Amino acid sequence: MTEKNTQLSNSYSLEAMSDFFNARAEMYNEIHTGHIDGGIESKQIIASFLPEHTKTIIDLGIGTGLELERVYQRFPFIRVTGLDISEKMLQQLKDSYPDKELRLYTESYLDFDFGLSCFDAALSVMTLHHYDHETKTDLYKKIHSCINPDGVYIECDYMLPEESFENAQETEDFYFSEYERLKQEQGITDNREYHYDTPCTVKNQIKMLRKAGFTKVREVWRKGNTVILIAGK
Ligand SMILES: C[S@@+](CC[C@H](N)C(=O)[O-])C[C@H]1O[C@@H](n2cnc3c(N)ncnc32)[C@H](O)[C@@H]1O
Repeated sequence: MTEKNTQLSNSYSLEAMSDFFNARAEMYNEIHTGHIDGGIESKQIIASFLPEHTKTIIDLGIGTGLELERVYQRFPFIRVTGLDISEKMLQQLKDSYPDKELRLYTESYLDFDFGLSCFDAALSVMTLHHYDHETKTDLYKKIHSCINPDGVYIECDYMLPEESFENAQETEDFYFSEYERLKQEQGITDNREYHYDTPCTVKNQIKMLRKAGFTKVREVWRKGNTVILIAGK
């Protein structure tokens, strides 16, 4: 969930990632799309980018599954594996799709073993703007290994397009330094994941994906700061 304005307050209180989303799970579906550029269209359009042959997907930070509605419309029998660290977000998802066979894990995608070449596509939707370059590049390597040779990784996220910011890199640096400042001020020294938006420039996103081994990376959709990238092997 992007809280572009509130998190810029000097005293923004950091919450552990799972606590943050557990506390907001019940109202998430009503409010989330009103807070992001592109709104519900940014979730619905994702299904159209999946390859025709898609039978299995893994969705990282699946939350309540807003992106799944159109995925199921296009591929009614698709097998979905979903990961999320918020039990309550996953409960909302299960309530929305009681008849679907979902493989859900309440675990961090940073620790989970995705396996080798077992999915036609991997998705991450509005979740990775909380992590730094090193963490994301390591994760992209795991994603690269877990998709089939003709598979794709689709990332829809809050990013900083160079065209919309006079200095996108400075803006990115500012968010990362604010996050460090807040952690220090609030005495946070553990390695848990905390909720703070640290979006990256589109150029940096593409660089990280290439560094992780993806050769075909392209931007396919953008509304404001919500951008969709597709990466193939
Ligand atoms: C803004 S929500 C997006 C949910 C859904 N993909 C959507 O677009 O509506 C971000 C989700 O990512 C999850 N998340 C954040 N970091 C995670 C991690 N390391 N492992 C698994 N889930 C994570 C949160 O718990 C939350 O449900």
